[in-house]
Amino acid sequence: MKAIVIEHYGGPEQLKLNEVSKPNVGENEVLIEVYAIATNPAEWKMREGYFKDVMPFTFPHILGYDVAGVIREVGRNVSKWKIGDAVLATANGSYAEFTVADENQVVAKPENINFNEAASIISTSMTAWTALFIDGKLTKDQKVLIHGGAGGVGSMAIQLAKHAGAYVASTGSTSNVNFLKELGADVVVDYTNEDFTKVLHDYDLVVDLVGGETQIRSYQVLKKGGTLSSAVGIIEEGKVEGIHTASVWVQPSGELLTKITKLLESGELRAVVKEVLPFEEDKFQRAHEQLQTGHTRGKIVIQVKE
Ligand SMILES: NC(=O)c1ccc[n+]([C@@H]2O[C@H](COP(=O)([O-])OP(=O)(O)OC[C@H]3O[C@@H](n4cnc5c(N)ncnc54)[C@H](OP(=O)(O)O)[C@@H]3O)[C@@H](O)[C@H]2O)c1
Repeated sequence: MKAIVIEHYGGPEQLKLNEVSKPNVGENEVLIEVYAIATNPAEWKMREGYFKDVMPFTFPHILGYDVAGVIREVGRNVSKWKIGDAVLATANGSYAEFTVADENQVVAKPENINFNEAASIISTSMTAWTALFIDGKLTKDQKVLIHGGAGGVGSMAIQLAKHAGAYVASTGSTSNVNFLKELGADVVVDYTNEDFTKVLHDYDLVVDLVGGETQIRSYQVLKKGGTLSSAVGIIEEGKVEGIHTASVWVQPSGELLTKITKLLESGELRAVVKEVLPFEEDKFQRAHEQLQTGHTRGKIVIQVKE
């Protein structure tokens, strides 16, 4: 099979299309023929070697987690799935024509969305859910500020927070102001010409998908007892008394993903695919270059099969 392989840590040019063996299917795993792959910022950071001390790779390594496709083989102990099922899953090494996933990390693809849309919502929606409801403990009628609302995670977070009945503010650049409103944000602050700390006050929760100065200034908009929930790491733990902090680390969960796909089925949540690219070496490189800018709207998906 063909796969995008890296032989060393380094720049986007490390992403190479190679011929490799199909993965073996474990007893509790399924083999998925990949139809669509979502690319995530974590993958360019891993490619560069930012996580090599905590998560060292053996090379050659196939990157990628989010996948949608069709089951072509099932392991001996698999009971939930059969050959031919259309699914989405968290796999280890999804930048390939075939990948394997634990049967508990696999979810049925809703019929009303295509494979590209299905792939796009996996890590993004689970991260958004974790930041809002597990770490952030957001409830109905509370106020949440979502920084980076136009990105993969942010575009899910705005929709999920609105669906939960929260009042939602979000930040983005000028070209994304209308997009953030369309996603459901009640208030949008264009960070290129307005200071969010001057216009937003007494928030219960800030979901930080940006970090740096944006995170540090976020304490000013939180009320006492509020929470700063960051997917990019808390810079200064315990900085402000009375404010809770949470470093979000998404844990793939088939159970959570099933809950989220129900919202896609009912139309209460929609996938936000910005660009669909073919399964070619230079397209993966381009996707990584775009993700590295930190200014991607929605998701970039690689389509492997129609
Ligand atoms: N900890 C975890 O488990 C976990 C899981 C998933 C993602 N993450 C991390 O979370 C971050 C966001 O992920 P993502 O997939 O949503 O990224 P993304 O798709 O690349 O989106 C980033 C978004 O941030 C916006 N942005 C950039 N600078 C901003 C600023 N100063 N203020 C407000 N918005 C700003 C950009 O919009 P504009 O173009 O309008 O600036 C862009 O839409 C990444 O660093 C990723 O690695 C962590």
